[in-house]
Amino acid sequence: MGLSIIILAAGQGTRMRSDLPKVLQLLAGKPLLAHVLACSTALAADDVCVVYGHGGEAVQAALPDPAIRWALQAEQSGTGHAVQQAMPGTPDGNRVLILAGDVPLLRPATLERLLADTPKDEMAVLTVDMEDPTGYGRIVRAKDGVQCIVEQNDASDEQCGIREINTGVILCPADKLRNWLAGLGNENSQGEYYLTDVIALAVADNVKVHGIKADSSVEVMGINDKKQLAEAERALQQRLVDELMRQGVGFADPARVDIRGTLKCGKDVFIDINAVFEGDVELGDGTKIESNNLIRDSKLGANTLIHPNNHIEGATMGTDCEIGPFARLRPGAVLANNVKVGNFVEIKNSNVADGSKVNHLTYIGDTEIGSGVNVGAGTITCNYDGAYKHKTKIGDGAFIGSGVELVAPVEIGAGATIGAGSTITRNAPDESLTLERGKQKSIQGWVKPVKKDTK
Ligand code: UD1
Ligand code: CA
Repeated sequence: MGLSIIILAAGQGTRMRSDLPKVLQLLAGKPLLAHVLACSTALAADDVCVVYGHGGEAVQAALPDPAIRWALQAEQSGTGHAVQQAMPGTPDGNRVLILAGDVPLLRPATLERLLADTPKDEMAVLTVDMEDPTGYGRIVRAKDGVQCIVEQNDASDEQCGIREINTGVILCPADKLRNWLAGLGNENSQGEYYLTDVIALAVADNVKVHGIKADSSVEVMGINDKKQLAEAERALQQRLVDELMRQGVGFADPARVDIRGTLKCGKDVFIDINAVFEGDVELGDGTKIESNNLIRDSKLGANTLIHPNNHIEGATMGTDCEIGPFARLRPGAVLANNVKVGNFVEIKNSNVADGSKVNHLTYIGDTEIGSGVNVGAGTITCNYDGAYKHKTKIGDGAFIGSGVELVAPVEIGAGATIGAGSTITRNAPDESLTLERGKQKSIQGWVKPVKKDTK
């Protein structure tokens, strides 16, 4: 029996008070809806349909996955009406798993349990016990399963006291769901077609409805406002860090690290406070990340030491490199082994070979640096002529004195020395000293300017 997943994502999310549709609000750097979609990918569903409506085109553009079947719900007339929009393309022989686009912390394992514990021709609702069930649909049980779900606004005082609530996750056979949806009315306090009314219709049809409880209420929390979004962010961060600690990664404080993407770590990695990882980041064995670093889409080799306060993006490093403090590595910065990049150094689209050092106040762009090179303080590769970018090449073992400008395109030979303060516009030969300076002169008896007394 195939599996269809229908994700409800048409609502406006008024309580977010944002121009961005609710399901595009970011959690751990990804839209809420992307988290729900990742969950459905993990279940290997053969049909995934997203019901969209509010902010429709933006939602589709943000998730350009050709595997998604999109169903438009032009007017938001309720969750039952939303599911109806997805039914025309849903194969009759499938089971349908309905998820909400604003419940991003659900784990695939919970859904796998729901699927495994429900006979294929029966129905299930994922529920949870809530300390404070206010606002949620309440689960009304009889001896042999769930009888119905009552929404808060339509519940009696007695029903309001029920603490078991509907998480919004529902599983049932597609053909039966199609019939029940056709029988929904909207005679309720909100004048909406409630998906939850399907439960009573199933019971009337003698189909058993299993109420299967999730392990934690955090996992099924719905995100309606910025406060809940922030709570979910912390919960998800804790989950990600817990998993890394299980793998042996050390953290100075697991509450002061943020992972917005995928962080892969080797053995004996240590991460100090306020590290933010974005996109795909890989840290090799023995890597140490000191405090206050942003690292995005980068790969760091074994035993790399990242000092405090660096911005590292799109960089690749070999082993035993040392970066910062206060360095900026931009996309295409490729460092081999034992490379040192010090404070106030920016490197972009450049290769730096083994053992080279760029330690102070330097800009390196579009450059090939050989091995064992020492780049002095305040060196600038002038790579941009206002229209085009040009390359600089520095040979193995070269020594670039302080305050040098290398006006690209230019090549510095292997073992060359460039005198401090030079502006190099032509190639410098191997193993020689090249310098370019104005003559130093001193003017005797020079009178310093003084301010005139205007009184
Ligand atoms: C719903 C359930 C409630 C449950 C709660 C769990 C119903 C009637 N109520 O209430 O029992 O406890 O979720 O979080 O189902 N949506 C559409 N189109 C619509 C209306 C909603 O796509 O016309 C989508 C929303 O974008 C959202 C999801 O359905 O992703 C849930 O809708 P929401 O309005 O948040 O329902 P709740 O009032 O939270
Ligand atoms: Ca909700």
